[in-house]
Amino acid sequence: MASNKNLLMLPGDGIGPEVCVEVRKVLDWMDRRRAVSFDVSEDLVGGAAYDAHGAAISDATMDKAMAADAVLFGAVGGPQYDKLGWDVRPEAGLLRLRKEMDLFANLRPAVTFDALLDASTLKPEVIRGLDILIVRELTAGVYFGEPRGLQEWNGAERCIDTQAYTKAEIERVAEVAFDLARKRNSKVTSVEKANVMKTGVFWRETVTALHAAGGYSDIELGHMYADNCAMQLVRNPKQFDVIVTDNLFGDLLSDCAAMLTGSLGMLPSASLGAIDETGRRKALYEPVHGSAPDIAGQGKANPLAMLLSFAMALRYSFDLQEDADLVEQAVQDVLSAGKRTADILGAGETPISTAQMGDAVCEALDRRAA
Ligand code: IPM
Ligand code: MG
Repeated sequence: MASNKNLLMLPGDGIGPEVCVEVRKVLDWMDRRRAVSFDVSEDLVGGAAYDAHGAAISDATMDKAMAADAVLFGAVGGPQYDKLGWDVRPEAGLLRLRKEMDLFANLRPAVTFDALLDASTLKPEVIRGLDILIVRELTAGVYFGEPRGLQEWNGAERCIDTQAYTKAEIERVAEVAFDLARKRNSKVTSVEKANVMKTGVFWRETVTALHAAGGYSDIELGHMYADNCAMQLVRNPKQFDVIVTDNLFGDLLSDCAAMLTGSLGMLPSASLGAIDETGRRKALYEPVHGSAPDIAGQGKANPLAMLLSFAMALRYSFDLQEDADLVEQAVQDVLSAGKRTADILGAGETPISTAQMGDAVCEALDRRAA
């Protein structure tokens, strides 16, 4: 039977394809055990798309992404593509998806699993029970600002990038942060560099005004400079609930927050567009870890971030809260049972492979659903 749930998988490069295979297993499990089925199609992005079509994403793939209910994205990039031209480098595919799908709100949770406390470089008491959410603006700022590039300046060559934000671009991402905080601990920290950057001052003023006028009096709003935020994340991350910040600071701070949890291989993300008249929103889900070319094809990759990204898709795109919970609980179960891929290995432990980890999650799902 045709499903009304349309999922586009873009595995990409490096470890992307191998972690996506493990999502297929969970999709099969859901079809069998929960009678939840998806129309899944798969296509190329990044270096893989360049090899096939000479572009980091083809127009046809873009069309599919625009029409999909959710896109599951693996990872892009690899050393063989490092010297490609700017417009065809693998990252250009991801940036085009973000921009054309208008995925302005990037949700990057950093949650520590009790079973993995020792995998973090920080002391257990600093990170035990950590549950923070970074909401990163994803379609504007210095990633897309114009003008950019080389220019002549007083007879010399110089190069510029432009940090630019409209009020509406700040407001819509801050709204997402406030709304999400309401379902959590009702605290938002807005992060910029208002001590140095005009866009930072504008960001702070805009968020403050929205908070006052937008019906958010139940949300506690604080402001922090980005450099201080990086320091506070390492010093005492549990002071945060939701952090909302611009594209570039969000890129940096989310890597920092990711490492608090012990492994980049554990962290999912969701990139969401605006809700349209039909109640639908474009969305792309991807693990934070990237393509990890050094371990690609060796069965060493940790598929849990990809599986948790799929759980986010179940939650945010398909409103399947119960199924999302199941996948997340199954991940907890395998960790509690001591299953570890190489990236989260403790002293004296033996790693399991990518495929074994995916199988273990499906077995845990079986037990949960029994
Ligand atoms: C991320 C990545 C990307 C970014 C790269 C691959 C373009 O670092 O998603 O955090 O800088 O946004
Ligand atoms: Mg990054």
